[in-house]
Amino acid sequence: MITLFSHDTPEPDDELVTSASGTAELSVAAVENDFVAGVYEKLASVYDLAFGPALQPGRIRAVQRMNIQAGERVLEVGVGTGINLSLYPRTCQMTGIDFSSSMLEKARERAAWGGLRQLRLLQMDAADLKFADGSFDIVYAPYLISVVPDPVKVACEMRRVCRPGGRIIFLNHFLSPNPLVSRVERLISPFTVHIGFKADLDLPGFLAQSALEPVSIEKVNVPRIWSLVTCVKD
Ligand SMILES: C[S@@+](CC[C@H](N)C(=O)[O-])C[C@H]1O[C@@H](n2cnc3c(N)ncnc32)[C@H](O)[C@@H]1O
Repeated sequence: MITLFSHDTPEPDDELVTSASGTAELSVAAVENDFVAGVYEKLASVYDLAFGPALQPGRIRAVQRMNIQAGERVLEVGVGTGINLSLYPRTCQMTGIDFSSSMLEKARERAAWGGLRQLRLLQMDAADLKFADGSFDIVYAPYLISVVPDPVKVACEMRRVCRPGGRIIFLNHFLSPNPLVSRVERLISPFTVHIGFKADLDLPGFLAQSALEPVSIEKVNVPRIWSLVTCVKD
């Protein structure tokens, strides 16, 4: 693992992306925004129970790694029910966007309990961010990029709104490098979209097509099949 923020010793199973195929298909599963929005409208009431505890170690690690400084402008893309909000330092300037009104409603309820001093929650499509270029120091997509119809378009938007030298961070499950496991992931991906994500998003292809160079990739959660991918905008 290449480490940008060296708080911890790298784990042996951390992996480095060394190859990329800019033309590879990123997933066998195709979805449209309307379909995804429908899934999350239904999931909103059970999301925290279904996807809360199991995915929480990755969320915690991601915010630790960010080492957010007072006053830094952080954008969470796909803020959902606001499950990450309590993890950010109170002193950062936080913006969360999501296109699901039901998920955002939960986030607003959560935000009402306090915590962050400066917080904006906005309804917006991740593929069409309504912010000026370079508006944020950190642009972070936890468990989002395998959900959207066009991950590359979303990554390009994330990069656009990040300031030069700022960080673009993905926390996600990606296609396994193990051929047997990846076969299974491709087989189940058309079904997993019904519970909100593609199981077979190809990380090297995604990074190559998004023109992003990771500075670190760390495996997180148990089992360690999710990746925390940090990139720095040129
Ligand atoms: C798997 S949830 C992740 C929620 C949260 N970030 C977390 O850590 O659990 C994905 C979220 O992305 C939102 N989403 C999906 N596609 C989106 C899009 N194109 N634009 C904005 N939000 C989107 C969904 O509504 C949902 O709230």
